[in-house]
Amino acid sequence: MDTPNSARVNDYLLGGNDNFVVDRDLARQMLSSAPEIKTLAWFTRSFMRKAVEMAADAGIRQFVDLGSGFPCSPNVHEVAHEIEPYARVVYVDYDRVAVAHCDALLAGALGVTALLGDVRRPHDILDQLNNHTLINFNEPVAFLLVGVLHYVMDDEHPADIIAAFRDQMAPGSYLAIAHGSSDSDPEILRVLTAANGTSAQVAFRSTAQTEAFLAGFELLEPGVVPVQQWLRPDLPETRMVMLGAIGATPSHRWRPAGG
Ligand SMILES: C[S@@+](CC[C@H](N)C(=O)[O-])C[C@H]1O[C@@H](n2cnc3c(N)ncnc32)[C@H](O)[C@@H]1O
Repeated sequence: MDTPNSARVNDYLLGGNDNFVVDRDLARQMLSSAPEIKTLAWFTRSFMRKAVEMAADAGIRQFVDLGSGFPCSPNVHEVAHEIEPYARVVYVDYDRVAVAHCDALLAGALGVTALLGDVRRPHDILDQLNNHTLINFNEPVAFLLVGVLHYVMDDEHPADIIAAFRDQMAPGSYLAIAHGSSDSDPEILRVLTAANGTSAQVAFRSTAQTEAFLAGFELLEPGVVPVQQWLRPDLPETRMVMLGAIGATPSHRWRPAGG
């Protein structure tokens, strides 16, 4: 309760009630310099929705939302179930309170589970998904990393984390990433990195760095672009840029060069 936390700051930006004074103070400080981050949080949620719809339309029936945060409608299972009522959805977050809230909300929702897991330990998450037979890795699955990867520092090896998930994904699986861009307005970046040193510390990355996370995936159009461009042509640009990208595992199984 003494330090700001990304799940609760995001909850505040999305209009939720699961946040403390320290989170609201940080969010308000960010909003005073960058009021558009509230809109951007919603654009990013809309990108998540678009990614789930695209995956479901492509026939994917299993979804893993990594860094899912506090429930905020429409949640992944609500979007997926509009297209396929029997789709399985697993929410994963390392914030115990967010997972507890997810659990409470989802009690009774068909095929939906909330797990405590740290993205930086992908094998632990994969073990939970396998051991509880939550995901069938012989079938395509969509992994979502929406607004999460920029909380993974370079020395925590984000590319290796993605590779660990990718190597389990059947052909025709999807990975959707929304990642804060280092090409955003420098003043905004200064404000948003002011939280560094807390659990809301961020590592914004370039378009090229974000694209490199999708090694081994076929990049879907329009590529690695601001999330607005995935949604509608008339949405305003934001000085803080959130890059969105969706990749699909090719129909043949991908192996790294020399691997
Ligand atoms: C900005 S919120 C995004 C929430 C949601 N995906 C959305 O787009 O609205 C970031 C979320 O990632 C979670 N998170 C950050 N680092 C994580 C990690 N290493 N493992 C699991 N979850 C993490 C936070 O707890 C928080 O809920």
